[in-house]
Amino acid sequence: MAQTAATLEKLVALCKRRGFVFQAADIYGGLNGVYDSGPLGTLMKENIKSAWKQSLLRHLDKDILFIDGALLGTESMWKASGHLENFHDPLVECKACNARFRADDIDLNGNCSRCGKKDWSEVREFHLMFKTQLGASVEQSSTAYLRPETAQSIFVNFKNVLSSNRVKIPFGIAQIGKSFRNEVTPKQFLFRMREFEQMEIEWFCTEEEALSAFAFWREERKNFYTALGVTNEKVHLRDHTQEELSHYSSATCDVEYEFPFGFKELEGIAYRGNYDLTQHSTCSGKDLSVFDEKKAASFMPHVVECSVGVDRLFLTLLFDAYAEEETESGPRVVLKLHPTIAPIKAAFLPLVDKLSEPLLQAYRKLRACGHSVQFDSSGSIGKRYRRHDEIGTPFCFTYDYDSEKDNTVTVRYRDSMKQERIAIDAIESFIKNTSPFLDKLC
Ligand code: GAP
Repeated sequence: MAQTAATLEKLVALCKRRGFVFQAADIYGGLNGVYDSGPLGTLMKENIKSAWKQSLLRHLDKDILFIDGALLGTESMWKASGHLENFHDPLVECKACNARFRADDIDLNGNCSRCGKKDWSEVREFHLMFKTQLGASVEQSSTAYLRPETAQSIFVNFKNVLSSNRVKIPFGIAQIGKSFRNEVTPKQFLFRMREFEQMEIEWFCTEEEALSAFAFWREERKNFYTALGVTNEKVHLRDHTQEELSHYSSATCDVEYEFPFGFKELEGIAYRGNYDLTQHSTCSGKDLSVFDEKKAASFMPHVVECSVGVDRLFLTLLFDAYAEEETESGPRVVLKLHPTIAPIKAAFLPLVDKLSEPLLQAYRKLRACGHSVQFDSSGSIGKRYRRHDEIGTPFCFTYDYDSEKDNTVTVRYRDSMKQERIAIDAIESFIKNTSPFLDKLC
């Protein structure tokens, strides 16, 4: 089978056509860098998030607790974290057409990609946080910011979590939630957005444990992508140079994926030292150190952080899974998503409408168990197979005229398109024993 790779344009079109992702406020002309998830996108994102959670919880020797922090934070909190001072990107403006760009995204020796002229402004720092005012007050104390990363709500809650749970250092606090960045140039669809979701874990440990924890999480996080079926050669680890390190980090490594626009960061793994807890301790006046009973002394825990965007991973998985293939029955677009990630796990397709009833019963049993399955009886069977290929459904059950005689259905496998017959009564046990419903990432 000849294969054609994905382009960004093709993925954007597929996402809209099949209801994965829509531009936010589409009917009003859209909001740049902001997207809504459609029905299939919502299911797929849920699957991504539960795969991530599961990849953390499978370590029975590690305590990992989950929180769900607020999106708004005080000015004092963002000052302490260093974001108010450091969280900006270099901005440059074309003086001829007023288009604005991230200065590190373009060649300032070249011409403006919008108007073709070369008349650049000075490069200046553009702050990336969204600022707002709480209530009707205009005092400084009522200023709040939408969080640009979920990590800080973990740090400011460190002591709350520690004292309300039976955990000891080392342990992790993890969180999935929205973050907001007023990116100068949101681009490449879900790659760089202004509102996006992050999945972050902060691993709290002693200074002595930190480097081996960093080495552990580096490998662990890369393995997560392999377990999700992402093409091995397209994922690698890249250590940051000294100049690249963020204001808080003493060592950082990116998991990078080879997008059509080059190898780019998918996830960041950072050894943050004890920067954050020390800052919040100093600035809030609340002691966030931990007492070591053996040493009879307090210490400020060190932190290794793993941080990945749900939406960036979503885009990565789509790129990796997308294929256009020539088949005996014509061309098809197929999303070869890992069954754990596929939004619909199985489709129930009677050959014609009047053969619906027996299959409908099998479908209802699975729906009642909470499985994400679909029943579809309209249109030609070939078109229905194509639709399910395109949304990544791992297999389809079809009830045809032979089914009436021998109470069997065909199972069609998405990737190989092979078909085999099984008894209609065996669908439930087939599903119980088959990967899309069982696949764990360990
Ligand atoms: N707490 C550390 C932190 O936020 P980051 O490298 O700025 O580090 C971590 O972000 C991850 O969040 C990135 O690797 C990426 O997957 C995702 N991410 C960051 N900015 C994003 C954006 N504008 N749009 C989509 N995803 C983004």
